[in-house]
Amino acid sequence: MLYVDGKWVESGSAAVDPEDRGYNFGDGVYEVIRVYKGKLYQWDGHIARLYRCAKEIKLDMTWTEKELLDIAQQLLEKNKITSNDDAILYMQVSRGISPRAHDIPGSSKPVLMGFVRLKDRPLADHKKGLSTKLVDDIRWLRCDIKSLSLLGAVLVKQYAKDAGAQDAILHRDGIVTECSAANLFAVKNGALYTHPANNMILRGITREIVIELAKNNGIAVHEEPFDTNFLMQADELFLSSTTAEVMPLISVDGQAIADGQVGAVTKKLQALFEQHIE
Ligand code: PDD
Repeated sequence: MLYVDGKWVESGSAAVDPEDRGYNFGDGVYEVIRVYKGKLYQWDGHIARLYRCAKEIKLDMTWTEKELLDIAQQLLEKNKITSNDDAILYMQVSRGISPRAHDIPGSSKPVLMGFVRLKDRPLADHKKGLSTKLVDDIRWLRCDIKSLSLLGAVLVKQYAKDAGAQDAILHRDGIVTECSAANLFAVKNGALYTHPANNMILRGITREIVIELAKNNGIAVHEEPFDTNFLMQADELFLSSTTAEVMPLISVDGQAIADGQVGAVTKKLQALFEQHIE
């Protein structure tokens, strides 16, 4: 069952209005929220970000946080998600239906859509790590907004895949930003380095958790820009996201990072994350 604009509908039978601005312009924002053992993880952080992003695009949210939580919980119930299940919950808000024109309509009513899907944790990849390719960050300059317009992210991921890599590490003029749908961390001499949370990256909820876990456990964290030379010389690399958690990256452009194995700091953070979600 999906939630679409106030109605519960069977998947496969949902209809989108051809002039829904989410559909025409990618005009809207979204969240992907983890469900561990049937329970929503980091709900508050995701919802705070959804409201912030809506505000940044001048979209008036017509739901209270409690109403959104109620819809999310109903999605879990109606889809029979139990304490045995790991899943993701997707929620998007489009600016609504209006005759196609670029300017923001005065009167459109935002459209909320949500679904839930079973999704296992990527535990095998956590042990092996992923290969990556360096790709030009061709996205826009408001990557802090979790926008429905994801064509930039789609293309950079595909450029990496076409080159035989599993994900893209993005850079702007040599400064490393993040991955196609995840934040990036480098480890050097036992400390973490990651791009500051400004308009060039999404302030990931998992990124915040990783930073907090690191600091609480004596691992220094530097939120500062670094370049592709620093990246290639890192002792370890990993990405963080709702679906991937703490995911090691073992090569870039076919070149191994350090010895090409999952590093000790990454393993430590994976263990801390594991405890955190229990
Ligand atoms: N992606 N950076 C980008 C560009 C992202 O799209 C995401 C999340 C992140 C990590 O954010 P978080 O830790 O809050 O998931 C960073 C989601 C999972 C997606 O689009 O599927």
